[in-house]
Amino acid sequence: MHEDFIGYLAEHEGREYDLHATHVNTAFVKMLKAIGFDKRYVRGEGCYLWDEDGNKYLDLLTGWGVFALGRNHPKVKAMLKQYLDQEMPNLVRMNCSLLSGLVAEKLTSVTGAGLSRVFFTNSGTEAVEGALKFARAATNRSGVVYCDHSFHGLTLGSLSVNGAQFFRERFGDLMPGTRAVPFNDLAALEKELSTRNVAAFILEPVQGKSCEVVADGYLEEAQRLCRKHGTLLIADEIQCGLGRTGKWFCFQHWPNIEPDIVCVSKALSGGFVPVGAVVTRPKIMDAVFNSLERCVVHSSTFGQNDMAMVAALATLHAIESEGLVENAAIMGEYMQQRLREIGASCPFVKEVRGKGLMFGIDFHRPAESLKLKMAWDMLHKLNFGVFGQMIVIPLMQKHKILTQVAGYHTEVIKFLPPLVMSKADADWFLNAMQDVLADTLRVPGSAWETVMGLAKRTVMA
Ligand SMILES: Cc1ncc(COP(=O)(O)O)c(C=O)c1O
Repeated sequence: MHEDFIGYLAEHEGREYDLHATHVNTAFVKMLKAIGFDKRYVRGEGCYLWDEDGNKYLDLLTGWGVFALGRNHPKVKAMLKQYLDQEMPNLVRMNCSLLSGLVAEKLTSVTGAGLSRVFFTNSGTEAVEGALKFARAATNRSGVVYCDHSFHGLTLGSLSVNGAQFFRERFGDLMPGTRAVPFNDLAALEKELSTRNVAAFILEPVQGKSCEVVADGYLEEAQRLCRKHGTLLIADEIQCGLGRTGKWFCFQHWPNIEPDIVCVSKALSGGFVPVGAVVTRPKIMDAVFNSLERCVVHSSTFGQNDMAMVAALATLHAIESEGLVENAAIMGEYMQQRLREIGASCPFVKEVRGKGLMFGIDFHRPAESLKLKMAWDMLHKLNFGVFGQMIVIPLMQKHKILTQVAGYHTEVIKFLPPLVMSKADADWFLNAMQDVLADTLRVPGSAWETVMGLAKRTVMA
C-alpha cells in the first residue's frame, strides 16, 4: 500500500457507503440515500466537484464553510508540498516554532481591535471552549450568556451555549450558569448582564442556523453593556469570519466594535488541515497564563502543529493576495439581490437574508392561494422542516448544485459559496433557483410528490 496508495484506493472503489453503514454512522448513510445524496465524488477543484460519471457540481456547501478558497487551492497545496519535502522538526513542544509565530502575527494584523494574542486549537468547538475558559479566568465569574438559535459547536462546553434544544437532548447535564437571550434583543441582554455574574456574552454576528444578522447598532450597544457590567464580548466568527461577509471579520462591518475575544476556524484550514484560533487581548491571555507554573494550564497536544500552521499561513496570504474579501462583498451583494428578485414571485419565500457570501432563504406558509396553503399544511402535518428538501433535492439532482437545509427543524436553506465564486457560477445558481422555486408552485407536481414521499418515509423510519 505504501508504494501504490492510489492503486490501493482504486481497489476499494465503491465500498464507501457500505463501509460507513457498517463502521461509521448508519443513520447518516440512510439519510443520504433517502434524499439521493449518496454520490461518489472523485475530484474537487475550486468551486466544483465531479462524480464518478463525470458530472460537474457547484459546491455551495463548502464542507460547512471550510472551502472558502475552493478545493485544492494551488498556492496552499504548493506550500504544503514544499513543507513536506523538508525534514521539519514539528511539535517539539519545549520550544517556540517560527511558523505558529508567523500565523499569529498575520492573523492578529487582520483582526485588529487591539487583539494581539492567539491560542491555536484544532477545531471550532475547541476555540469556543478556550474562549469560555479564558473569559471565566479573566473575569473570575462563571456565567455565560448566549443567543437563541446559536451554534458554537457540540462538545459539552460549546453545547451549553447552543441555542437549540434538539442538540442538547439526551446528553445529560451541561455546564451550569449559562442563559439564553433572544437574538438582537438588547433589553434581555442588559437584564442578564446586570446580574454581574456573567463572564462572557458569546454570539455569531451572522447566525449559522438561521442566517439572521445582528441589527445595525446592536453590537455597539451590546459592547457598551458588556463593558458597563464587566462582561467580555466573544465574537464567534468560526463560520462568518475570514472574508466570508465582505470584511476580514464580520464585526468589522460596524464602527468601533472591538470584541474581547474572536473565535476562528473552518476557512483558516485552507480546506486541508484542521485548525482553529482564539484571538484575544494580552490582558486576557495573561490572566490565564499568569505564572510560569501555569504557562500551559490550557493547551492541546496537536495545537500549533506545523501542517495546520502552513495551511493557515498560506490561506491568509491567498485571501489577501487574491482580493477574496472584496470578491465576497461583490458576489454576495449580487447573489442576494438577484435571489430577492427571484424570490419575490414565489409566495413560499419569506425572506432572503445574510451578509456577503453567507446567506439563506427562509420559507413560510403562503398568505394567499388556498391550493398552496393546503399543500404546505399537508406536508407540515407529516413532517416539519422537510419543505426545504423541495429546493435542496432538485438543486442537486436537476441542477448539480450542492446545498443543505441550515439546521434541524428549520425552513431555512443556507448558502456558503466559495469566496472565489465568479459571476458565471452565481448565474448557474440563480437560474437554478428560478426553476426550482417555480416548481414549488406546481401543485400537484413532481417536486411536491418527491417531498411528500420523503416526509412519509422519514415519519415511518
Ligand atoms: C459559528 C460556529 N461556531 C463553532 C462551530 C464548531 O466548529 P467545529 O465543527 O469545527 O467544532 C461551528 C461549526 O459549524 C460554527 O458554525
